[in-house]
Amino acid sequence: MAENIYPIYDQMMSREDKEQLLGQRGLMVWFTGLSGSGKSTVAMSVERELHKRGILCRILDGDNIRSGINNNLGFSQEDRRENIRRIAEVGKLFVHTGIVTLACFVSPTEDIREMARGIIGSEDFKEVFVSTPLEECERRDVKGLYARARRGEVKDFTGISAPFEAPAHPALSIDTSRLSLEESTMAVVEMILRAM
Ligand code: ADX
Repeated sequence: MAENIYPIYDQMMSREDKEQLLGQRGLMVWFTGLSGSGKSTVAMSVERELHKRGILCRILDGDNIRSGINNNLGFSQEDRRENIRRIAEVGKLFVHTGIVTLACFVSPTEDIREMARGIIGSEDFKEVFVSTPLEECERRDVKGLYARARRGEVKDFTGISAPFEAPAHPALSIDTSRLSLEESTMAVVEMILRAM
C-alpha cells in the first residue's frame, strides 16, 4: 500500500471553514407538531425570508425524506424512531456544512426528539413546537388522513390512535390557529437570527 504523502493537505475542510465561506452559522431548527399543524408551511416561509437575507437553508420534511431514503419505513414506534435517527444524522451533515437546516417531522415523543438533539448536539438544536390544536389540524385535514384515521383506515395515526407528547421546553411555540403565517414566520426568523 502506498504511503500517504499528503498527511496534512488531504484533510477535509472544517465546519468553521465552511461557515466562514458562507458567512453564517449552521443550525438545526427542529419543528415538531401534529400532522397538519403547519410545520412545513411555516418552514417554507422561514426559508424564503432567510434566503432574502442571504442565509442558505435546507428543508427536510416528510415529502423529501419518506419518499426517498426512508421509503422503507412506516409509522410503528420503531420505524418512527429510525426515521428520526436517519434524519438527525443527515441533518447533522447539513449543519456541519454551515447550513440552517429546517426539519419538519411529527417526531411525536420526547424520547425521539431527545435522540435527535443528542445526535445533533444541544448547541446546534432549536426545537420549535407547532402547537396548533388537534381540533384545528383535524378541521383542516389537508391530506384527508384524519377522516381516514377516524374511520379506522389508517392505524397508529398521531393524535387519534397514536400518542403525541408536547415538548416540555421548546425554544419557541407557535400556534398557527392563532398567529398569521407572517407572525409565525417572523417569530421563527427572529429566533434563528438571535442564534446566528
Ligand atoms: S414521524 O412520526 O416519523 O416523525 P413524519 O413526520 O415522518 O412522522 O411523517 C408524518 C406524515 O406522514 C404526516 O403528516 C402524514 O401526512 C403522514 N402519515 C401517514 N400515516 C401516518 C400515521 N399513522 N401517523 C402520522 N402521520 C402519518
